Amino acid sequence: MNGTRVIWKEELVTGNDIIDIQHKELINRISKVLNTSDMPNSVQVADTINFLFDYVFDHFALEEKLMIQTGYENFDEHLKEHSYYINYVNKLKRQKIITRELISEMQSELQSWFLEHIINEDRKMAEHLRRYCIEHVHL
Ligand SMILES: [Fe+2]
Repeated sequence: MNGTRVIWKEELVTGNDIIDIQHKELINRISKVLNTSDMPNSVQVADTINFLFDYVFDHFALEEKLMIQTGYENFDEHLKEHSYYINYVNKLKRQKIITRELISEMQSELQSWFLEHIINEDRKMAEHLRRYCIEHVHL
């Protein structure tokens, strides 16, 4: 397939190990199906869409729990971006026909969401969590 590819990059590292492992798993799973040279079959795409939905359910829940527990000041902005993603994947779930155009759109939409969200929001959150631990956890 041409166009944007969904790939893991070093700049996506937030420094929070659990969050990074989950992001990597998400991006690797998506790239396996979307970054193929042939048109992926509709079952594979439907499975990926379900995965995108189910996996982030737990992943976002973890991030949101950590933000609430540590009184993160940018919680509302962060939540808005999670909602945007959930709405987008919900829209994908309603697609009846998988076309090349849809795959290309998914690639560029998901890649730009992950890049933008992880670099701007998740990294900021991870930095807040790191500072919180230094200030509150005394070993
Ligand atoms: Fe996030």
